[in-house]
Amino acid sequence: MARVFSGIQPSGEIHLGNLLGALHNWVAEQHKHEAVYCIVDLHALTHKHDPAQLRQATLSLSQMLMAVGLDPQVCTLFVQSHLSEHSELAWLLQCTTSYGELSRMTQFKHKSDETDFVSAALFTYPALQAADILLYDTDIVPVGDDQRQHIELTRDAAQRFNQRYGETFVVPSHQIPKAGARVMDLQNPTSKMSKSAGEGAGTISLTDDPKAISKKIMRAVTDSETEVRYDPAAKPGVSNLLEIMAAARQSTPQSVAENYSSYGALKKDCAEAVVAMLAPIQQRFGELSADSGETARLLAVGADKARHMASQTLARAKQNIGLLDGEG
Ligand code: TYM
Repeated sequence: MARVFSGIQPSGEIHLGNLLGALHNWVAEQHKHEAVYCIVDLHALTHKHDPAQLRQATLSLSQMLMAVGLDPQVCTLFVQSHLSEHSELAWLLQCTTSYGELSRMTQFKHKSDETDFVSAALFTYPALQAADILLYDTDIVPVGDDQRQHIELTRDAAQRFNQRYGETFVVPSHQIPKAGARVMDLQNPTSKMSKSAGEGAGTISLTDDPKAISKKIMRAVTDSETEVRYDPAAKPGVSNLLEIMAAARQSTPQSVAENYSSYGALKKDCAEAVVAMLAPIQQRFGELSADSGETARLLAVGADKARHMASQTLARAKQNIGLLDGEG
């Protein structure tokens, strides 16, 4: 059976882009393959953060992932820092990833432009992401379009390691959805919807109430034409709404476009589709949030299951790279 792995950062509000670009596939894949999903709290340390807020965000993201449909009985759901294997393998991969490769990462370029303190870890971030993936002998990585380059780097790192030190890692492939792979900001549709822009009018948080969702979609920036047509380059705002509706209704943006002759009607239906999609998630999130003890228990079970897989791969990598066995 193929192994699926993916991760999400507990920073900022989880939003519609995360849901359509990644989490829908996570939920579907858990029933088809052996699936392992990780809340990557160590990655969230690469930028300035508030410690108490990070702890709370980690807990509440776990609850949101379950509310979205991850079933801890079916998949393995855990927190990255609960296993030391991730940091350990990340070091081995930093030693087999080049400075040049890391310098070419567009996410590093964007994120380092946005902050006055560029941590060394922000630069080596993709090596930790590669470690996350490779520890689980992963075949498939369901992600949004913005992670494409990181998965390419993971493949290159795995191949180089295997070539230098012998077969150690499975070389993974990304899985990117047809619709919703890059949900754009509603106010600035040439930039992707992001957590850092969260709470703004351009981002729909999964916890936004129906009124806020409708308001944000009805006020979404479009263009001065009137024709409803899917053309991301010429009509980024309208195309984004079509893409969101297509992802929510499991259709294609082109066929959604055929049903509309005005922006107003498209926006109204798009808002209804998003509200209807989020209502059961929000209800379940409310229920799960009431029992943090149970969430912590489920995460501990998830960490045990993950450790069992990760420790074997790490031991193999340490052996193959030439570290002396410390077991005696
Ligand atoms: P993160 O936490 O930024 O996002 C989690 C997932 O959501 C997708 N995503 C989007 N998809 C469509 N439209 C958008 N506007 C949008 N914004 C985010 C992302 O592509 C991602 O799939 N580096 C990763 C976390 C990570 C990881 C991993 C992912 C760490 N280790 C191992 C996969 C495998 C990140 O920051 O995702």
